[in-house]
Amino acid sequence: MTAIRSIISGTGSYLPENILTNKDLENKVDTSDEWIIERTGIKQRHIAADDQVTSDLAVAAASKALESANLNAADIDLIVVATSTADQTFPSTATTVQRKLGITKGAAFDVQAVCSGFVYALTTADNFIKAGQAKHVLVIGAEIFSRILDWEDRTTCVLFGDGAGAIVLSAKAGVGDNSDQGILASRIHSDGRYNDMLYVDGGVSSTQTVGHLRMQGREVFRHAVVNLASVVGEVLEDTNMTSDDINWIVPHQANKRILDGTARKLKISPDKVVVTVDKHANTSAASIPLALDEAVRDGRITQDDIVILEAMGGGFTWGACLLRW
Ligand code: UT7
Repeated sequence: MTAIRSIISGTGSYLPENILTNKDLENKVDTSDEWIIERTGIKQRHIAADDQVTSDLAVAAASKALESANLNAADIDLIVVATSTADQTFPSTATTVQRKLGITKGAAFDVQAVCSGFVYALTTADNFIKAGQAKHVLVIGAEIFSRILDWEDRTTCVLFGDGAGAIVLSAKAGVGDNSDQGILASRIHSDGRYNDMLYVDGGVSSTQTVGHLRMQGREVFRHAVVNLASVVGEVLEDTNMTSDDINWIVPHQANKRILDGTARKLKISPDKVVVTVDKHANTSAASIPLALDEAVRDGRITQDDIVILEAMGGGFTWGACLLRW
């Protein structure tokens, strides 16, 4: 039997130059370096320059992903951008990325699933490839969360940062079993009952403002560990694998305690978890491709490794992808 598989043929990322440390935040709100590190593992975050918009970060990451895939922009037939901090209400940030990369064919659209955005975008792109409708897809997670933070609210403003990560997802023939390279299983979920636990208090049709991020942190935390362990269990079951088969978990980076708690629940050694939350904080849809690019470029993730990407975010939304590198 043959099957079309989606393989990650290139990765890239971009972080704005400006770094905001916990110490810097001590001068803005009633917080401390010790509290932030102990409760979240975060030491610093990158903040976009005033003249940068989300598509700028996305294009910088995408250009590096194209270079590492050895492809030109003209080879891309679909762009999917996961973001909750679009340049404009419309058109989509994806079409702006398309324009900036000089691509005039194919299609481009945004996906909005907050911190799960990259897993949603990857799952969508995988389905386009498996259906034979695309050959090389740019899947990008890009965010400027610093623009939707209430910088007077210490319970949220210390948690987030800006950045972008990108991959090129390419079609490759496989035999249809677990020996194939590429995405072997993916699952996405949402449960709108929890809509008001993590949200932005503004919007086009409600307030005609952008709004600020609001979160019931403890509740989100509680759901995150349970939902993430459960959805990772699903992709393992889909592929008849167990936790022992996993070489690397590349999780959404919200809180080091969530990463540790999920690994413990799955009985996976913390050594197999890629952690960037200390340096990047929570970059929402950008956090997984940022962490993935780092672990690929420093040689941790190598050919044939079984890699799991997982995320949970506002909505609630959550999901996981299992792939062979
Ligand atoms: O990306 C996906 C979505 N996001 C997440 O997954 C985040 C999930 N939640 C979390 O990571 C954690 O719940 C937080 C890091 C947000 C909070 O940690 P926590 O251990 O759940 O703390 P808490 O909310 O229970 O607050 C404990 C105390 C409170 O003081 P009182 O009421 O006990 O006197 C807070 O007011 O810590 C206080 N606090 C702070 N203190 C210093 C809250 N934020 C800060 C702060 N600095 N920045």
